[in-house]
Amino acid sequence: MTSVGIDAIEVRTGRLKLDLAETFAPEQGDDPEKYTKGLGLFSSSFPDAYEDIVTMGANAAHRLMERKGLEPEDIGRIDVATESSFDNSKPVSTYIAGCLEQVYDGDFHHANKGERKFACIAGTQSLDDAVNWILAGRNRGRGALVIATDTALYARDSSGEATQGAGAVAMYITEDPDLVKLSTEQGYGSADETDFLKPNQQFPSVDGKRSVQVYLARMREALEDFERAAGDTHPDDYAFIPFHTPFPGMVRKAAVLGYRHMIRGTDVEEALADDIGRQPRRDDFDSREAFEDAIREYVDDLKETDAYREWYGEAIDPTLDISSQVGNWYTGSVHIARVSALKHAVEQGRDLAGQKLLVASYGSGAQAEIHEETVQPGFEDEVAELNVDAEVERRYDLSFSEYEQIHDRHNHEKSVELEPFTQPDSEFVFDGWGPMNERQYTYIE
Ligand code: CAA
Repeated sequence: MTSVGIDAIEVRTGRLKLDLAETFAPEQGDDPEKYTKGLGLFSSSFPDAYEDIVTMGANAAHRLMERKGLEPEDIGRIDVATESSFDNSKPVSTYIAGCLEQVYDGDFHHANKGERKFACIAGTQSLDDAVNWILAGRNRGRGALVIATDTALYARDSSGEATQGAGAVAMYITEDPDLVKLSTEQGYGSADETDFLKPNQQFPSVDGKRSVQVYLARMREALEDFERAAGDTHPDDYAFIPFHTPFPGMVRKAAVLGYRHMIRGTDVEEALADDIGRQPRRDDFDSREAFEDAIREYVDDLKETDAYREWYGEAIDPTLDISSQVGNWYTGSVHIARVSALKHAVEQGRDLAGQKLLVASYGSGAQAEIHEETVQPGFEDEVAELNVDAEVERRYDLSFSEYEQIHDRHNHEKSVELEPFTQPDSEFVFDGWGPMNERQYTYIE
């Protein structure tokens, strides 16, 4: 079967940074460790006054096209995933194509463009659509541009405020990809939930604690469904497991449950039995409540074992590096977790070629999806081209009052003019409103 997957990735972060321990925690009257240890977040990214989901997406796509030597005629699809869209009719992909056409001789008139919505999982769904388009043989030798772009802003003083973030991930999907090949097997966990939603409003309505439980429940269903398609999973099967990462603490909770599920009935459960016993089995308990208590106890013990800690340190922790510095990027989050892992492997001199990733996506509302990816030979050359460290490093460090101003600047219900904190440099910028209330963009040399 044709090998299809991600040929190249680019990451673009908002140009501003809010330090959670130094700047945010003192104003909230919180212990900084609630953020750095509890949530696992050190800082978040914000868009400057001239940035938005279009500029971040277009700038990521532009760098990707330049780096890969692509022209518009090489691209047969532009799919944008976002939950920060500003138009119920005209898709963000048309704005991004319009930006790119300012700097290329050719155009994207031949390309199919769309916008995908299902909270944070839409980035993976767009990737899936692109892969299926190629597998169906409808691409005529062209690739697909998939862009996940979001400004994940919450209402001020709401529970999610510390988990904000803003950035875009652009991915080029082709046959014989240079980075990772996607499996055709995938598993879903999907249900009608009201954990997090934005009914025609910019900032989400969130039931924070419940959203955590819904994430875990749907992820578990997706893993079971994946195993129905692909067979049992084992922790040793995967070099890394990138999860959707609203904040690293969420992944800590999901990872231990996933590990428990994967080791059930295996050599690992057996090896741990002397220390922490075997996993509770439902048939051994009179009530579901007693069974669930026993499971909780087992998981608490499991978390403390050397076997688990070692696995977590190798397969999970490296996926969280970037997200701990940039916050939640909604549709892009699982994709920066993948980048984080691949980058870590290159930095450690690990040759991952032929090894597998288990990629676990999630969107509130709610749906989880799990699939496998196989790392391709030469992946390190692609990873070496990433400039994500420089992107993260160059952000302007906001004071708290500057943070308040930029939050207001991006609040659709406020009309706030604000001088930018940074200077645009060879990039697309937001340039005001047109006669039909459309957003306008310019490329600044
Ligand atoms: N030192 C160390 N740890 C501390 C601490 C301290 N001083 N103070 C608190 N903590 C720990 C807490 O124990 C807790 O850890 P555990 O959950 O492991 O016990 C952690 O820090 C967070 O503390 P709280 O639970 O008290 O934090 P909170 O209630 O203020 O906020 C939240 C947590 C409800 C998840 C909030 O961040 C939120 O609403 N986030 C938005 C929704 C969200 O991201 N949900 C995730 C699943 S939904 C999803 O994934 C989709 C999406 O992208 C939005």
